[in-house]
Amino acid sequence: MNVRGRLVLVTGASSGIGAATARAFARKGARVLLLARTRSALDAVAAGIVAEGGEADAFPVDVSDAGAVAEVARAILHGHGAPDVVINNAGSGRWLFAEETPPEEAVQMMAVPYFAAFYVTRAFLPAMRARGTGRIVNVTSPAAFAVWPGATAYTVARWAMRGFSEALRADLHGTGIGVTLVTPAAVRSQYFEHNPGTAERLPRIARLFGSLTPEEVADGIVRATERDRHRVFLPFRTRLGVLAHKWFPRPVDWLLIRTGWNRAPLEPA
Ligand SMILES: NC(=O)c1ccc[n+]([C@@H]2O[C@H](COP(=O)([O-])OP(=O)(O)OC[C@H]3O[C@@H](n4cnc5c(N)ncnc54)[C@H](OP(=O)(O)O)[C@@H]3O)[C@@H](O)[C@H]2O)c1
Repeated sequence: MNVRGRLVLVTGASSGIGAATARAFARKGARVLLLARTRSALDAVAAGIVAEGGEADAFPVDVSDAGAVAEVARAILHGHGAPDVVINNAGSGRWLFAEETPPEEAVQMMAVPYFAAFYVTRAFLPAMRARGTGRIVNVTSPAAFAVWPGATAYTVARWAMRGFSEALRADLHGTGIGVTLVTPAAVRSQYFEHNPGTAERLPRIARLFGSLTPEEVADGIVRATERDRHRVFLPFRTRLGVLAHKWFPRPVDWLLIRTGWNRAPLEPA
């Protein structure tokens, strides 16, 4: 898809990957719609884009709230029409063992990214289907392909994003609407500040894959959209890691567990 002149909606656009992705699409000549909860941060991203000569509109919304998503979608459809590209990027969640995770936090981790992506996609699909073109881009994590210890609910939610993408691609076959699943390795965004205690749980073996800037991920998302790609791993060596896990699951699982986070030993009774 040539993104110039297209309408691109980005969730989680107030920070990190989402903000960089909105800026990258705007530089390519797309009009961007920015969704996240923090109005001031969204306004700052939108103002930066406009200052560079781009077009951006901010829509403060909690994307885990189905009613609020439906309402903002109605406003967008009325004011701008159906997006050409919907990027489901909003996400959060600490890395915790199951028994460390408060039940409400486990629910919240499914709410964003997974249910949020479901609500946002569902809200725009009828109009996108009526037009017969478009792309849904979902952002997940390598945890959706190879699992490490100490991040249970986070991992499950990223598998949900992967499952959602594969199911949608099958559902939308022949409709003119494509689906892209983007899987970045560690990204130097504010994710680790927003979700404290997470960075130290990254398995040592995963550090071999290095880390990316949000801008590098954004460029990868733009490229994947332009090239109508189904699945993208960033950087490319992340794909090699995922393939290694597919071909040699036992040794790779062993390495992830051995170099991953360990529980503190139980105090003697
Ligand atoms: N950083 C990494 O290493 C990494 C690696 C692979 C995948 N990812 C995935 O990439 C995505 C973006 O992460 P990031 O690194 O850019 O993190 P980030 O800087 O913490 O950004 C997260 C974004 O999600 C938004 N968000 C969170 N909850 C929301 C809600 N309920 N409603 C609306 N917006 C919400 C935040 O905005 P508000 O707080 O303003 O609402 C913010 O804009 C996440 O899904 C993450 O799992 C990250």
